Amino acid sequence: MTSAATLPRSVTVRVPAKVNLELRVGPRRADGFHALSTIYMAVGLFDEVTVAPSAEWEVTISGPYAEQVPTDATNLAVVAARTLAEEVGVHEPVSLRIHKEIPVAGGMAGGSADAAAALVACDHLWSSGMAREELVQLAAGLGSDVPFALSGGIAMGSGRGEALAPVLARGTFHWVFAVSQTGLSTPAVYAECDRLRSNAPIAAPEPSSQMMTALRSGDAEAVGRALSNDLQDAAVSLQPGLRDVLDAGLEFGALGGIVSGSGPTVAFLTASPEMALDLCVSLTASGVAGEVRRAKAPVHGAQVIPGPSRV
Ligand code: C5P
Repeated sequence: MTSAATLPRSVTVRVPAKVNLELRVGPRRADGFHALSTIYMAVGLFDEVTVAPSAEWEVTISGPYAEQVPTDATNLAVVAARTLAEEVGVHEPVSLRIHKEIPVAGGMAGGSADAAAALVACDHLWSSGMAREELVQLAAGLGSDVPFALSGGIAMGSGRGEALAPVLARGTFHWVFAVSQTGLSTPAVYAECDRLRSNAPIAAPEPSSQMMTALRSGDAEAVGRALSNDLQDAAVSLQPGLRDVLDAGLEFGALGGIVSGSGPTVAFLTASPEMALDLCVSLTASGVAGEVRRAKAPVHGAQVIPGPSRV
């Protein structure tokens, strides 16, 4: 631990959203989670979490999705900070300030991102000296996507999504996201997936060689063709309007389109920044998608930044 005189007054961490290029859902396990094989890509839509010593635990939210985020003890960033405090024996509360740019309940792991950011920020604030591996383990306990929010880049996820392995990949990818006005609950989408599959036997999920080859060569067209998501039918079943969004993006020239994770955000891969901008304009003009965002990928995982870029 550092001496009190050298401890920072506040720490800000920037953390990205994710999209699953491939999400293969296996059988439901005894613990209620589903066995997964997934390829995560961290995309350049970022939340910022700032932590500072405070008289009591508190959380404030800013940004376009602020009113959709709980500010009580159920907030995943607060849960993460308190879990780390307990783990390292810190008894002083912190205030958390979250600037949210990642859609809420959108299938882009926004809550998981904030949890990862809170872990990294508090670890830094308290100079807790946790080994990276210990932090990753705490992250996995908080949620299946939290370890990936720490690592960023491109990674393969197995287990329930928390066990990460590196993926050989090159290139920069240009994404467009159609954000739905209404979120979807992740457990509800998994339950719908089970219902649609009824009792059909499901094989253990594995990554596809098609996606691995496409990523290794950095071929955006091939990645676009290989996009796949076993939760897509379930998300579309719960929000049938997503089908029109998917069709529109493909019609307007996207290389591929997919529901992101458990949805309802729809992610489109494009060939260049210019094509991404064109697609944003077309989707907005068509009126089929509420809000449209652009992002470059892959990007780093949760990182301390010099100070909050927004107050
Ligand atoms: O791990 P996380 O808290 O993000 O998971 C939220 C919910 O999503 C779980 O409670 C479960 O219903 C569902 N889930 C699942 N299988 C996974 C990951 C999540 O069924 N591999």
